[in-house]
Amino acid sequence: VSTAGATVVALRFEGRTLRALDQTVLPWREQELELHSASDVAGAIRCLQIRGAPLIGVAAGYAIALELARDPGGQTLDRACRLLKDARPTAVNLAYAVDRVRAAVLSSESARPAEAALTEARAIHAEEEAASDLIAANGADLLADHHRVLTHCNTGALAAPGRGTALAVIDEMWRRGGLERAIATETRPLLQGARLTVYELRKRGIPHELAVDSAAAGLIAGGWLDAVIVGCDRVAANGDVANKVGTYGLALAAQAARVPFIVAGPTSTIDESCPSGAEITIEERDQDEVRRTQEATLTLADTPCRNPAFDVTPAGLITALVTERGVAQPVDADSLAALMAR
Ligand code: MRU
Repeated sequence: VSTAGATVVALRFEGRTLRALDQTVLPWREQELELHSASDVAGAIRCLQIRGAPLIGVAAGYAIALELARDPGGQTLDRACRLLKDARPTAVNLAYAVDRVRAAVLSSESARPAEAALTEARAIHAEEEAASDLIAANGADLLADHHRVLTHCNTGALAAPGRGTALAVIDEMWRRGGLERAIATETRPLLQGARLTVYELRKRGIPHELAVDSAAAGLIAGGWLDAVIVGCDRVAANGDVANKVGTYGLALAAQAARVPFIVAGPTSTIDESCPSGAEITIEERDQDEVRRTQEATLTLADTPCRNPAFDVTPAGLITALVTERGVAQPVDADSLAALMAR
C-alpha cells in the first residue's frame, strides 16, 4: 500500500475507456480495469469490482456513453439501460443514474447520443463529488463532540466519488482534529471493511483498528465508541434504510447502548417512490461467497447458505441522516420530505 495521505481514485473516464480500480484484489494489488462496453461495466458491477451505491451509479452512466459510442443504433440505449439496471437491485443510485442519462439522451437534439450521455454522466459524477464534501462537513459538524467511531462496510472514495459518504465524515473529523480513532468492522462475507476501509484509512493516515463483525455489539455496549456511522444503498420515503448486511444489528446495539447511530449518503440515495423498507428488494448473492473466501474454504462445500447482501434498518433506530443538503433528525417522512424540498 502506497503513501499515507494519497488520494484514492476509484473511477476515471478517459478517451473511450472507463478505468476502474479492481476492488476485488485490493488491498493487496492496485490493479486497474479497462472497460469498453455496457456489458463490461455491468459485469464489473455484478462481481463487485466496482461497488458502493453512488459509484455504481456513476459507472453505469459512463457505460451508457461507452455503449452508444460503439453502436448508436435504435435499440442500443434501452438494451444498455436494462443490462445495467439489472446488475444489482438494492442501491437506488444505479437506477437513478441510468434513468437520468437515458432521459438526457432522449431529450437531446444532438445527432451524437454518446456525447449527450457522456455530458450527463460527467454531471452526475461532479454532483456526487461535490455532495461528498458537503456530507463530510455536515457530518463532522454533527459529531463535533464525538471522538471514537465505528463504521461498517466501505463508504469511502472506493464507494462514492470524492471522499465517500460515512468515511468522508470520519476523514473530516480527523482533519479537524476531533477524531481519536475509527473501528472498522470486517463486513463478512466479502470483507469490504477488512480490505477496503482499512486500505483507505491507512492511506489517509487515520488511526484505526479492525474488529470482527460479531465483536461490534460488545464494543458498543462496553463504552468503546461514541458513535456508529454507516452509508446507505436506498433510503425509503419513511426513512427506513437499506445498507450492507449487518447494519441493522449495529443499529440495535447502538440503540441499546444509547450511542448515536448516524447514516450518511447523498440525496441520490433517497427513493421517494419507495414507501418503506418493506418494499426494498434485498439482493441475494451466491452461496459460495459465504462458503469460501478468495483464499480458503470455510465450511463443507455443499453447506446450504443464506447470503442477503443488505438489510433494512427501521427509521426509528437512526439518530440522524446526513446528506449534502443538510441533516434530517429525527429521521421520518416529514424530515425527509423537507430535506428533498431544499
Ligand atoms: O455490496 P457493496 O459493497 O456495494 O455495499 C456497499 C454498502 O453497503 C455501502 O455502505 C453503501 O453502498 C454506501 S457507499 C457510500
